[in-house]
Amino acid sequence: MEHQVKDTFHRPLRDLRISVIDRCNFRCSYCMPADIFGDDYPFMPESELLSFDEIFSLAQSFTTLGVKKIRITGGEPLLRKNLSHLIDRLSSLEGIHDIGLTTNGVFLVKQAKQLKQAGLHRVNVSLDAIEESIFQSMNGRNMKPRAVLNGIDAALDAGLQVKVNMVVQRGVNDGQILPMAEYCKDKGITLRFIEYMDVGQTNGWNFSDVVTKKEIYDQLTEIAPLIPVEKAYFGEVANRYRYSDSDVETGFISSVSDTFCSSCTRARISADGKLYTCLFAEHGHDLRSLLREGASEEQVEQYLTSIWNHRSDRYSEERTEETVRNRKKIEMSYIGG
Ligand code: GTP
Ligand code: 5AD
Ligand code: SF4
Ligand code: SF4
Repeated sequence: MEHQVKDTFHRPLRDLRISVIDRCNFRCSYCMPADIFGDDYPFMPESELLSFDEIFSLAQSFTTLGVKKIRITGGEPLLRKNLSHLIDRLSSLEGIHDIGLTTNGVFLVKQAKQLKQAGLHRVNVSLDAIEESIFQSMNGRNMKPRAVLNGIDAALDAGLQVKVNMVVQRGVNDGQILPMAEYCKDKGITLRFIEYMDVGQTNGWNFSDVVTKKEIYDQLTEIAPLIPVEKAYFGEVANRYRYSDSDVETGFISSVSDTFCSSCTRARISADGKLYTCLFAEHGHDLRSLLREGASEEQVEQYLTSIWNHRSDRYSEERTEETVRNRKKIEMSYIGG
């Protein structure tokens, strides 16, 4: 039986972001800087990862609380063995009408077809620059943009909906705003510009590194005026626009200059089964132990309901120099964005 839970600000629980692995084949400097995430970094051993049975069982419990949308994240989720088997099972869940995946795109060339066949609807592919040397240095693995673009093409060929995510950092890739916008507009792909956030403890974030939505918007009007597009659903993260001379959309995820906590309907599960009620939450709730100790479905649902009922997170609205410096934050590669 579905019952819609609400938190202390009356926000429903609608989206579940599930991280399936904390490893990645990239070392983007804003997410997993190579000098910290080196060969000796203690990534999770396989036994710590939630199994597909455990993920499925949790996802099922979440649907009874009102979750309609699932997004698979990492690290790089396509590094998780047999991911399409999980998608296949999740897509059978009643009540779930949207399954997405956020990826760096490289493995889509091999996997897009089987993911689509398994029931995946959409992929959001991260690409921070189209210029070779800028992208190579940003991803920390010397990977060329072509590897990602091929992945995007494979996803489109397989019939997946594709959006591109670009995290903009001042002095690093802000010169790529227009080239990226033009490339995506020509291909008919939605490009979303993401304000760089103070996630994790390792990227040395500063307010001055953030290129705001307004700055990007102003640059884009050189291509064509932008017409606002209505949000597709309550709690959508991106502000969407359409270029006035085409059907192609672009968007902004402006969680620094213009927050969206008041409509945040997202819960996150880390690859080792901790539930976080905010990207910036200091503590998670250990769902894996609950499952491995043999809790019943009813007990899990009661626990999740109680956590969501007590939720009061709104970090983006509270962000100050002090929280940026002193709050203990989880890493993006651990929680999946
Ligand atoms: P769609 O369903 O396609 O709209 O996906 P999405 O934008 O919700 O997910 P995606 O994984 O593509 O994330 C894009 C950016 O939005 C990343 O930088 C995420 O960290 C950020 N993001 C997503 N949800 C939240 C949120 O609840 N709070 C904050 N602060 N950032 C978020
Ligand atoms: N700020 C904003 N977005 C980020 N991402 C990773 N780290 C950050 C950050 N510090 C993006 C990735 C991916 C999505 C999951 O989050 O590029 O598109
Ligand atoms: Fe990997 Fe994505 Fe993090 Fe880059 S941003 S290191 S691709 S998880
Ligand atoms: Fe939701 Fe936390 Fe992001 Fe605000 S900062 S939108 S509460 S995840």
